[in-house]
Amino acid sequence: MTSQTSSRLVVVSNRLPLGDNPSGGLVVALEDALGASGGVWIGFSGQPSEAPADHLHDHPGARFRRLSFDLSQEDHDSYYAGYSNSTLWPLCHGRADLMRIVPEYLEGYRRVAGRIADLMVPHLRQDDRIWVQDYQLFPLAAALRERGVSVPIGHFLHIPFPGPADCAALPNPSELFQWLSHYDLLGFQTRRDLGAFVQSARQLSQFQPIDRDMIRLCGRTLRAGVFPIGIDASAFIAEARQAPDEDRMRSLTGARMMIGVDRLDYSKGIPQRFRAYQMLLDTRPDLIEQVSFLQIAPPTRGEVEAYQDIREETEHLAGRINGQFATLNWTPIRFIHRPFPRAVLAGLYRQARIGLVTPLADGMNLVAKEYVAAQDVADPGVLILSRFAGAAETMTDALIVNPHDPQEMAEAMAEALAMSSVERRRRHAALLQGVIEQDVSWWSSRYLDRLRPVQ
Ligand code: ADP
Ligand code: F6P
Repeated sequence: MTSQTSSRLVVVSNRLPLGDNPSGGLVVALEDALGASGGVWIGFSGQPSEAPADHLHDHPGARFRRLSFDLSQEDHDSYYAGYSNSTLWPLCHGRADLMRIVPEYLEGYRRVAGRIADLMVPHLRQDDRIWVQDYQLFPLAAALRERGVSVPIGHFLHIPFPGPADCAALPNPSELFQWLSHYDLLGFQTRRDLGAFVQSARQLSQFQPIDRDMIRLCGRTLRAGVFPIGIDASAFIAEARQAPDEDRMRSLTGARMMIGVDRLDYSKGIPQRFRAYQMLLDTRPDLIEQVSFLQIAPPTRGEVEAYQDIREETEHLAGRINGQFATLNWTPIRFIHRPFPRAVLAGLYRQARIGLVTPLADGMNLVAKEYVAAQDVADPGVLILSRFAGAAETMTDALIVNPHDPQEMAEAMAEALAMSSVERRRRHAALLQGVIEQDVSWWSSRYLDRLRPVQ
């Protein structure tokens, strides 16, 4: 570790954006924070490699450096596809039934944390602060401490924290809390997640509250708090206003459009959404040809079986609904498996009368915030939001639904289609205010203000 005077931020995330124009809320958030303090962003290069190496990316004039590492195929399979996305992801999203417990996954997960720690140590300075992102990297602080790193290290969890019943399904639940105890600050998206963490820690490890945000966990003192992530609202608003016409779906303008934008993940509730739409068309034949549904869902984590299954299930269901209701002039569901540039998405959100954000479990859900930011304030659309999205804790002026109940969702769709302009504007104004006030800079600066050594 070298000793220098200026304080820097070191961000570590599983994915490191390397393109010229990376989009996505998390990327923008972290670029903001790093731009302000200078520092290094460290993450996986994205491609498994037979000869893993590390690469420093320096761009002229950039306020921070990027340091990427490759992973061997074996590490990628056990750490990323395995423990991160076949064990922890289903567990944290209430799907312990999909969880795979494989000893090699856990070994690979620990091994990669050690490898990242080895890579980091020579780049660290004594006055750095380290900010670790998400569930893929829980053991990183412990691995860094083992190597003598004593600077403040924070963790932010972007996804839900599991309650005690789910945590107990881990092969060795107490290890999770041991890992977490090496951080100085644990950040959660919602009060719900902080509550789940406290309950689980109390039942499955050594835990004691000290005061409002200080805790003792496995013999160490640290802080824990709620920091709901936001979007770059002003950039999104500007992008939606400028979205070119040709990027919009002109062919849908006759029918009012509902839009869903998600990774094709079983936690997003896409089949449930399709069934609710099917129920709407079944019970309201007057809406045939009057409403269409655009679902954009690029496939993700395709090496994991549960993701292959959700792709098959959703394609099958969309095909069945289209076969049942399509007319010569109208296709009820357009199901597109492609990512789109942020400006195009912004234009599509703006054109949609309804934004459907109905996950079965979700840390926050940035699409809910993007949909609101993209609306025309004079004629806004209606957000239909699952009560299980972290966003529902603050976005209470949306139509809040239970995604497991197709009738309730179909009724919300009908209500949104019939909603008066006055009511739409009232709800939208309240939602937009929250999206603007609690934006991405608000999130990162609130978090970083608290990331300091625990006395
Ligand atoms: P998650 O992190 O689980 O994927 P979020 O809703 O919080 O869910 O964030 C998803 C991000 O990915 C949003 O910024 C959204 O705009 C972006 N995104 C989702 N689908 C697409 C797509 N098809 N094309 C481009 N960006 C997408
Ligand atoms: O928001 C949750 C999250 O897992 C992030 O950590 C991740 O960058 C994003 O979803 C996309 O997942 P993946 O990197 O596995 O494609």
